[in-house]
Amino acid sequence: MGQQAQTYLRRVSGAISNIDRATMLRQQPATIWLTGLSGSGKSTLAYELEHRLIGAGHACYVLDGDNVRHGLSGDLGFGTEDRRENIRRVAHVAQLMNDAGLIVITALISPMHEDRMMAREIVGSERFVETYLSASVEICTQRDPKGLYAMAHSGKISSFTGVSAPYEAPESPGLLVETAKETVSASVARIYDYLHERYLNPS
Ligand SMILES: Nc1ncnc2c1ncn2[C@@H]1O[C@H](COP(=O)(O)OP(=O)(O)OP(=O)(O)O)[C@@H](O)[C@H]1O
Ligand SMILES: [Mg+2]
Repeated sequence: MGQQAQTYLRRVSGAISNIDRATMLRQQPATIWLTGLSGSGKSTLAYELEHRLIGAGHACYVLDGDNVRHGLSGDLGFGTEDRRENIRRVAHVAQLMNDAGLIVITALISPMHEDRMMAREIVGSERFVETYLSASVEICTQRDPKGLYAMAHSGKISSFTGVSAPYEAPESPGLLVETAKETVSASVARIYDYLHERYLNPS
């Protein structure tokens, strides 16, 4: 069905260019693609960063895995194929939001290198910042903010990244944030400064 539509539909566009939107919003669109184990700090940093960006007058939005799985990806599970499909959908939403001029912060474990490369391809390389939140399984197990590691270690949940499913750490991420070694505010500042240098225009 999707393939068929692609053969006869043409893209359409209006009079507003990406430059018009960037000028109005005083920012270049970007997708900060957070990746890391459960408990590495994706949601914490995503919402703190959003708060700081909005406070500085920038338009942004968080796409959190825990939220999209209630609607957009409500039909998907946690097997390899379903995780890939979840990432594909979120990447397309991020791409659309970037086209609207927003800065997007995604918070998905996104454990597989190949799937993150797919997301980069969908979003567009110049807008995509792979941001690796590095924290060991031991640290994340100690934090266990949702009690999921306890359930995974006792076998109550399966296919849990870092325990019973793989995590492929990025080898050369755009940004490395070692959340076990610094405070939340220091981590937020690191990402904000990176964005500020490359994507946020002076007012
Ligand atoms: N520098 C830091 N950055 C982010 N979180 C930190 C940092 N230092 C400590 N933490 C703590 O680590 C925990 C991270 O939990 P959080 O829910 O953000 O993880 P997550 O990556 O979103 O997990 P999940 O994939 O299960 O949604 C929080 O309790 C947070 O306070
Ligand atoms: Mg989270």
